[in-house]
Amino acid sequence: MANIKFFSGEQIPLELHKVRIVQRLELPAIEKRLEFITEAGNNTFLLKNRDVFMDMLTDSGVNAMSDRQQSAMLVADDSYAGSETFVRLESKLQEIFGMDFFLPAHQGRACENIISQALVHPGTIVPMNYHFTTTKSHILINGGTIEEIITDAGLEVNSSNPFKGNMDVAKLNTLIQKHGADKIAFVRMEAGTNLIGGQPFSLDNLREIRSICDRHGLLLVLDASLLADNLYFIKTRDEQCKNKSIREITLELAALCDIIYFSARKLGCARGGGICIKSRDIYEKMRELVTLYEGFLTYGGMSVREMEALTVGLDETMDEEVINQGPQFISFMVDELIKKGIPVVTPAGGLGCHINAMEFVSHIPQNQYPAGALAAALYLASGVRGMERGTMSEQRKPDGSEQLSNMELLRLAVPRRVFTLSQVKYSIDRIAWLYENRMLIEGLTFVEEPKILRFFFGRLVPVSNWQEKLVEKFRQDFGDSL
Ligand SMILES: Cc1ncc(COP(=O)(O)O)c(C=O)c1O
Repeated sequence: MANIKFFSGEQIPLELHKVRIVQRLELPAIEKRLEFITEAGNNTFLLKNRDVFMDMLTDSGVNAMSDRQQSAMLVADDSYAGSETFVRLESKLQEIFGMDFFLPAHQGRACENIISQALVHPGTIVPMNYHFTTTKSHILINGGTIEEIITDAGLEVNSSNPFKGNMDVAKLNTLIQKHGADKIAFVRMEAGTNLIGGQPFSLDNLREIRSICDRHGLLLVLDASLLADNLYFIKTRDEQCKNKSIREITLELAALCDIIYFSARKLGCARGGGICIKSRDIYEKMRELVTLYEGFLTYGGMSVREMEALTVGLDETMDEEVINQGPQFISFMVDELIKKGIPVVTPAGGLGCHINAMEFVSHIPQNQYPAGALAAALYLASGVRGMERGTMSEQRKPDGSEQLSNMELLRLAVPRRVFTLSQVKYSIDRIAWLYENRMLIEGLTFVEEPKILRFFFGRLVPVSNWQEKLVEKFRQDFGDSL
């Protein structure tokens, strides 16, 4: 996706890679899709992948690997202790982030478990730009609470602000004054804020937060799971960074943090996770938790093959031509949907295209899960599997009432290098049809509702027979088309 202009003037993302391994896909008929989504309790997490045409649930662990990553997997050193594979990964992380210590873990939430057990105590608070589901759960389980202090722009579905993931520094100051610095477990910044549309923070914002942390002796922890997208946006949206390389920006950003953790299912296009740490004291405090929960310090629950792929994947993340693929495909999708008048989160972020369900199906009340209902409806209309990011992804309050989400989003993840442009165009086409027929969509209600992370396993039913009506309308409009 280098600077290549089309003679026609058309602006479409052009890949700088070719496809060498493919996987066959099936698109079941809509009547079958109705059976499958019903069996799955209207929860797209519970669909079987063989019944899905385009899996846009997540980018987690499903990004396409490069040939260099695949070949690196063959030279893995599978020794329990002193593995050369570990040394290669550790050195790559030191090179990229400039931090002395590294602890491996099997995925992002395992890092959160270790960080929260080590640093969160009952009564402490973790201020953050925005929460991620598993992060919040780990902090709460350890007796802490979270405070989301994203700037107001972050919660505006449509904005021209290029850095909607920024933390409101005035709110951070007020919070510290109100509670006292000793009540703050650490300050957490999430790169490419997942739950509000993959929106980035700016380097300036991180600098300001660092100076507040310095003033109060607070730790700054970066969740770097979606760092690749955030780096691309810093490079392309921040005038001061236009002439810096991705590596320079990464080093500058990492120097502002005390701890950087990541899900390698996202960062580095492999499967695993890790915690990079500046201070020996904190490293030693967390080290025993890794051996207790994850595995020995040289693998932390990861397979050595994945660790080799991760080492190469992290290196490739430092290449702008690699990390621009996701954001540019997403931007294409967002622009095309806007042309059709479909409400989406703007500016286009990383991770995926986010449809604003609050507006798409504005007739569905939040306690009937508009984004969840839209996810089920889109699967019916297209075989595309998206993910609810709204009230269903929240946890009920202690009194049993709903914690209504700030946004109701249907996230359509665009895993890196996985879909072709014609597949993306197909998804846009079916979303447009659904938008025309949106008044047919109604809400959902839980029939099985787990207390924690209910969106993973919960089962729901439609509040009426709206799904049958949608199938009927599809047949009228599309004839015998799949
Ligand atoms: C920002 C963020 N943090 C943490 C995690 C948890 O990572 P994992 O799924 O590897 O446990 C994710 C996963 O989606 C994420 O997006």
